[in-house]
This record gives sequence, C-alpha cells and structure tokens, in this order.
Amino acid sequence: MGLFRAIYSSRPFGFDAGMLNGILMDARRANLRDDITGALICRADIYLQWLEGPEAQVGNTLARISRDDRHVEVTLHVAEPATERVFAHWAMLHDPAATWIWSRDEVAAHAVERATAQEVTAFFTQLRTASNAPDPE
Ligand SMILES: Cc1cc2nc3c(=O)[nH]c(=O)nc-3n(C[C@H](O)[C@H](O)[C@H](O)COP(=O)(O)O)c2cc1C
Repeated sequence: MGLFRAIYSSRPFGFDAGMLNGILMDARRANLRDDITGALICRADIYLQWLEGPEAQVGNTLARISRDDRHVEVTLHVAEPATERVFAHWAMLHDPAATWIWSRDEVAAHAVERATAQEVTAFFTQLRTASNAPDPE
C-alpha cells in the first residue's frame, strides 16, 4: 500500500503536562502497532501534527484522533501521497517549544487555520533538520 502523509492542527482542550504525556503514550503505542511515524508540535494553545504511513492506517489514525476530546477544532492542512518518510525514526517526535512558528496572539487570531499547506509542511522539515538524526536508509 502507498505511503501517505497528513498534517492537521487543533486546539488543546485542558492542556497540562500529564495530559500531554498521556497523549504521547497513546500515540507512540498505537503508532508502533500501525506503522505510523511523525511529529507533534505542541504548546498550550496549539497542536500541529504530521502523520505518515500506509494510507489506510493514516486515515484510521486521523479518524480516531478527530474523535479525541483532549482537543477541539481539528483542521486538516495536508493529505497527500508521499514517496518517503520524513520522520522514519520516530513513533512520534515531540517538539514542545514551537516558539518559531506563531505568537500566542497570532494563534488566537487563527493564523494556523489560514496557513498554507506549504507553510505548515516547511515547519516540519525545519524541525526534522533541527532534530539532527541520520537520514533513513
Ligand atoms: C493531539 C493528539 C495527538 C494524537 N496523536 C496520535 C497518534 O499519532 N497516533 C494515534 O494512534 N493516536 C493519537 N492520539 C490519540 C488518539 O486520539 C487515540 O486516543 C488513540 O489512537 C487510541 O485510540 P483507541 O483508544 O481507540 O485505541 C492523539 C490524540 C491527540 C489529542
């Protein structure tokens, strides 16, 4: 089955360290099972997540995530076939800072929802470069 990637944003509902740890544990456990890799940029006011893997698994994962009541306003930015994994080494890379994206005021003014597919893709390729791991074989 072909490789697929999706990027969505959402707004945390009741964000704290315990909840974030719970989300990351759920994500990594399920992603290892489902052959999904990716990255989660997270802050008190925003989640931005890159998911990649077999097309059906990415779709199923997105459907489960959309029903999760730990966030709201799930908005899909990118859904496209891919030729290779960008985050092959990570069941879910976690980037807590994300200060280089938008200010809190910009997020509150819906900058994320207005961003282009190219812009959100570029945030993750920057993150991938910064994470400094070897390229997948
Ligand atoms: C911001 C956020 C990111 C998530 N990321 C993933 C993920 O990458 N993979 C995944 O399987 N579940 C992820 N989840 C959790 C799912 O919503 C769900 O709890 C999990 O897939 C287990 O589903 P199940 O209880 O139906 O097995 C995420 C949830 C949130 C709120």
